[in-house]
Amino acid sequence: MQDERSPFQKLADLLSGLEPETAADQQPIDLTLGEPRHAFPDFVPDIIAQHAEKFRRYPPMRGSDEFRHSVEDWLNMRYALGDLPLAEKNILPLNGTREGLFHAVIGARDWARQQFGKNTSNAAVLLPNPFYHTYIGAARAIDAEPVFLNGSAESGFLPDLEDLATQTELLDRTIAFYYASPSNPQGSVADIATWKKLIALARKHDFLVFADECYSELYRDTPPPGILQACEGNLSHVVTFHSLSKRSNLAGLRCGFAAGDGAFLTHWTKYRNLVAPQVSMPLLAAGAAAFRDEAHVIENRRLYNEKFDAANRILGKKLPHETPPAGFFLWLDVSAFGDDVSVTKKLWQEVGLRVLPGSYLARTDKSGVNPGDGFLRIAMVADLAETQEALTRLRHCLIG
Ligand SMILES: Cc1ncc(COP(=O)(O)O)c(C=O)c1O
Repeated sequence: MQDERSPFQKLADLLSGLEPETAADQQPIDLTLGEPRHAFPDFVPDIIAQHAEKFRRYPPMRGSDEFRHSVEDWLNMRYALGDLPLAEKNILPLNGTREGLFHAVIGARDWARQQFGKNTSNAAVLLPNPFYHTYIGAARAIDAEPVFLNGSAESGFLPDLEDLATQTELLDRTIAFYYASPSNPQGSVADIATWKKLIALARKHDFLVFADECYSELYRDTPPPGILQACEGNLSHVVTFHSLSKRSNLAGLRCGFAAGDGAFLTHWTKYRNLVAPQVSMPLLAAGAAAFRDEAHVIENRRLYNEKFDAANRILGKKLPHETPPAGFFLWLDVSAFGDDVSVTKKLWQEVGLRVLPGSYLARTDKSGVNPGDGFLRIAMVADLAETQEALTRLRHCLIG
């Protein structure tokens, strides 16, 4: 029986009753939560105020034309899609990607029955391992079998599609594949060839790809290719999820979107009209403006890059680590110092640093392998000074 507690609950249980034995002037530092702390664009409050009158009305599920056109322009610009007309049928606003990722699987189950004629009584949902917890919540909600695909250093920390392609029985009963690029926690990025393989598998075996690309804009120097680029104009079987939470430091705005297969999105909207949350119109107006502005995103990337450079300087060769190509987590191999759970406990007790054990973010597979074993997830979300302080404490604690 696997432990169903969330990683944060497990961590709270692990550290419960343990106080850091640090000097009185050394405040604890918490780098567990992937909640951005950089400034959001300063035009956001004014735009919300200008549109405040619209708080009176129930917002339409499809949002505003302005929002969908802003997203269409952004996708065409970011992924060089050649002016694809997406706003009419291929874009849906979401109340943050989390709700979208959850509700999408319910749409996918019905779609698998109606469109692909699948018997969904033994449906499988594929997910990466480690994984974002909403994926498993979604699979459980529809009683589907969650199938975890390990990411390891050898597979670039992404699910191994070559191995998956041989598992025909599994693929035939798969209704959706949650595929995150850049991935959380490792920040790994799929290339175009990988996206194409994934799309080909989805079309061959009739399942939907749910590409979770909410970290797409937080890259070090090279923009990660997106799944829409790999589609070459044919969006069938593909839905991508993007968010303003990470790109624009607007986690509290609850604004993102799904884009892709128009027939699926139309079908899914009918379901969403019954039960899913809309995004209110003033917030969509702010969201539309945020997708039209790149200056704040460039600054956001600069701030993260500055912190990853600091990590290289502070941890150096003594704590070898890879700078992830994207995302804002440091996925640090600490196996030389013990297992990740004891190292987490030690860091909290000895230097007041709170991080997440990698094994809490992943499942142990049938052969006893947990791909998060030996790693820590460190969210690089605090400002530069606090991040430097945290990494310096970590280094002193582990290597003196
Ligand atoms: C991989 C991944 N997907 C989706 C989300 C959800 O983001 P939001 O609902 O804020 O758009 C998160 C948030 O941490 C995440 O890490």
